[in-house]
Amino acid sequence: MAEVTEALRAQIRGELPEVAAIRDADLAARVVEAWALAIARSSYASIRDIPPSGNPGQMVMTRGDQTDHIRGVTRLAMRMAEEMAAMNPDMVVDHDIVVAGGLCHDVGKPWEYDPENRKRWEAAPRATGLPSIRHPAYGVHLCLTVGLPEAVAHIAGAHSGEGELLVRSLEGTIVHLADIGYWTMMLAGGLIRPETVSQKYRRPISL
Ligand SMILES: [Fe+2]
Repeated sequence: MAEVTEALRAQIRGELPEVAAIRDADLAARVVEAWALAIARSSYASIRDIPPSGNPGQMVMTRGDQTDHIRGVTRLAMRMAEEMAAMNPDMVVDHDIVVAGGLCHDVGKPWEYDPENRKRWEAAPRATGLPSIRHPAYGVHLCLTVGLPEAVAHIAGAHSGEGELLVRSLEGTIVHLADIGYWTMMLAGGLIRPETVSQKYRRPISL
């Protein structure tokens, strides 16, 4: 397991430039720490080494890498939050939580995608499961380990199917919709490999 170094932290800031949009410097540093820890505890050297997909082998983009997805979701979430707040002055959206939540929603992916973990899980699915822990749950673990607020850990944990079991926060709802919207628009725009389209994104031809 690699150490979290200053060089790795600087690399993460370069890979996810939207970190600079977080106004609270401590929150921004913890977002960087969460990703640095995720990479250090995996066999990846960079977020860019993680395949550009929604789940391992599913919704695989025709080009790019995982930073394109993380950044795309964060940017969509920021714009949706901004536009909703502009039209609804009585809607209180926490800008920093939206940005931090967008950036951290998939922070558990280095674990779930890690080729060494997958080899282990696929060789013996009944030993610790396949995967043992999905990226939303592992993301919660990382967020809380580095001292990110509960509101950000919630977004990591509830952005996907796990979020159907609870009530999502406002910022969590925005990031969840940005994530769904990202994959839905990438599919409609011809930027997903057809053979990797997940069942939930398939539509009857009449629609
Ligand atoms: Fe995502």
